Amino acid sequence: MTTAVTPAPLTSLSATAGCAAKIAQVDLIAALAHLPPAADPRLLIGAATGDDAAVFRLTEDLALIETVDIFTPIVDNAYDYGRIAAANALSDIYAMGGRPISALSFVAWPVESHGTDMLGQVFRGAAEVCAQAGIVIGGGHSIVDKEPKFGLFVTGLCHPERIVANSGARPGDVLVLTKAIGTGILTTAVKRGKLLESDLSAAIASMTTLNAAACEAMVEVGVHACTDVTGFGLLGHLGNLLRASSAQWGKALGARIDVASVPVLDLAMDALIDGACPGGTRRNLAFAAPNVRFSADLSESMQLLLADAQTSGGLLIAVPPERLDALLGALAHRDVAVRAVIGEVLRTDDVGEIAVV
Ligand code: CO
Ligand code: CO
Repeated sequence: MTTAVTPAPLTSLSATAGCAAKIAQVDLIAALAHLPPAADPRLLIGAATGDDAAVFRLTEDLALIETVDIFTPIVDNAYDYGRIAAANALSDIYAMGGRPISALSFVAWPVESHGTDMLGQVFRGAAEVCAQAGIVIGGGHSIVDKEPKFGLFVTGLCHPERIVANSGARPGDVLVLTKAIGTGILTTAVKRGKLLESDLSAAIASMTTLNAAACEAMVEVGVHACTDVTGFGLLGHLGNLLRASSAQWGKALGARIDVASVPVLDLAMDALIDGACPGGTRRNLAFAAPNVRFSADLSESMQLLLADAQTSGGLLIAVPPERLDALLGALAHRDVAVRAVIGEVLRTDDVGEIAVV
């Protein structure tokens, strides 16, 4: 007699999900200090500025952009997991103002307990999103592992002078965000049985949406700086952008965030109050907090939400004020649904100071 055994849901196989499984910023900075400084002048952007991708100059007018993103299951639906992982990996190319040209996959999979049908669905989802980006997965690498992991190495191209780094922000720049936040909290709420995966439809739609259109819009208009909001949360990635920009400009830059204008996914606040906070989100807030001044009436929940570890989040763009209307128009023209003006970059006393009002 044989009994059909239902394999354990994908998200139950890992302690943390999606980009919330990222190594904490403080630990990563300590480990990366062991990397030798980049000496090759062709490496236009290396590990030093914590940018979204490495940029390597091939010729006078052509640069290669390289990035990799791999994470544990963020949803139980294997097809959605593949779609989200692909959109998330591609995002770092778009955050640099580049266009993707090809990808390789990496997979770790519990073949014995879960077989390969589900894995096939992961690949189908990833391939669909890659097709939307105009690329194919050209190969990859696999290992057997109890904890599933999936992601892509993505290669892109860009003109060396049109790279949108995270270091170009200047005082007065307006900050625009192109997706709502809260995916870390919502997916954690499902994992803890406080919400159903069917409650995630808006979050999944957001996480599977490519940042391609937002990228095209910002490149067309010309902006100062960009990064995408992922595992370190809005405050963490904004902090990185401000530190990198301060270093390049040679003077301290900070920002003011208008909390009422930050777009938040439905149910995220309720789920947070109900106790669905990812560990990565708490670590993010602890890391960011020394540089952030929260207005006195801001709840701890709202502080956590601003630090929520995102997976496949939107682009955070620093645009000079005289080009703001052009950017908002270009985003609208390409049907980018979220185009929130959330604050501005300021000259401050200390590097990376953020005032949340
Ligand atoms: Co990124
Ligand atoms: Co990344």
